[in-house]
Amino acid sequence: NKANYRHFMAKEIHEQPEVVGQTLAHYVDMAGERIELPSKLPFDFNAIQRIWITACGTASYAGQVAKYWFERLARLPVEIDVASEFRYREAPLRKGDLAIFISQSGETADTLAALRYAKAQGLHTISVVNVSTSTIARESEVVLPTLAGPEIGVASTKAFTCQLMVIAAIAVAAGRERGELSKIEEIKLVHELIEVPPLIAATLAIEPQIEKLAHDIAKSRDVVYLGRGTSSPLAMEGALKLKEISYIHAEGYAAGELKHGPIALIDETVPVVVIAPYDRLFEKTVSNMQEVAARGGNVILITDAKGASEAAMGSIVTIVLPDMPATFTPMVYVIPLQLLAYHTAILMGADVDQPRNLAKSVTVE
Ligand code: F6R
Repeated sequence: NKANYRHFMAKEIHEQPEVVGQTLAHYVDMAGERIELPSKLPFDFNAIQRIWITACGTASYAGQVAKYWFERLARLPVEIDVASEFRYREAPLRKGDLAIFISQSGETADTLAALRYAKAQGLHTISVVNVSTSTIARESEVVLPTLAGPEIGVASTKAFTCQLMVIAAIAVAAGRERGELSKIEEIKLVHELIEVPPLIAATLAIEPQIEKLAHDIAKSRDVVYLGRGTSSPLAMEGALKLKEISYIHAEGYAAGELKHGPIALIDETVPVVVIAPYDRLFEKTVSNMQEVAARGGNVILITDAKGASEAAMGSIVTIVLPDMPATFTPMVYVIPLQLLAYHTAILMGADVDQPRNLAKSVTVE
């Protein structure tokens, strides 16, 4: 049931501090301040040369964030592809490497086919799934569950943040096993993960500001989302969320790609949502933002207090999120994107929980 919410999507957005926290609790030994995966892995991360991540839609954006985390924290190369491509492209897989499949439903036909392909090639398989009785869960070697609870709204919200939490835990465990993270570094990262649920809760408090902003978005024909590093998959996710429930055309781009084409779209009618926590890439993203502003684009900057003061420009709208360490920002920065899509869809009169042409679980290819 929807509790006191108008839509399942709203309920699920607001459940995130709780379910992300539950998921984390399943992966952390709080007393030991270390990651402890709930299942023993049948391989050693030192024997893995490459991780192949496969998923569809929103889950594939979680996979794109995972690439940054595995490469940075565990120095492990990652290939990420959407399942409909991966299953047919006959990538040369190395026996004994690791394949990870991310799926809320655990029934997505293309993701399941990709899992079967990787298994047949002799890879170890981990599925990150929300439905533990699902086909993908049953057929994979190891299941690392997201504890998001049932997700009813067609647009994925809490499953995404829980997928990120599970992946963060796997990446930290891999980094530790490979000697890339010291005990001290692991403790620091674990504390950063523990901070995520309260940071999500604090971020949800900006909903009234987002609701106001949705009035401008609802009048637009096209919206562009930009981000760098782990914020670049978030740009795609923000655009996907907006288009699937409000039917407004949106594009997400890695900010550095702007000048390679999409900047031609920018004029005074196009809102540009820039996702830029104050991290080591902030300056780069801000320079892309200035290019947009110079062409009359309406910039909406999502950042923290430091970023807001550094980027101070007259004409932009700033959404200020709480300060947080740089690594795990995607779990927090996706919240305003979900809220923006949600409130825009309501203003458009769309059926938020049941968008046209979409099914919650895509069991045919
Ligand atoms: C978007 C959305 C879809 C799913 C995709 C994969 O909001 O919900 O893009 O993420 O269909 O579904 P699962 O995770 O069930 O494999």
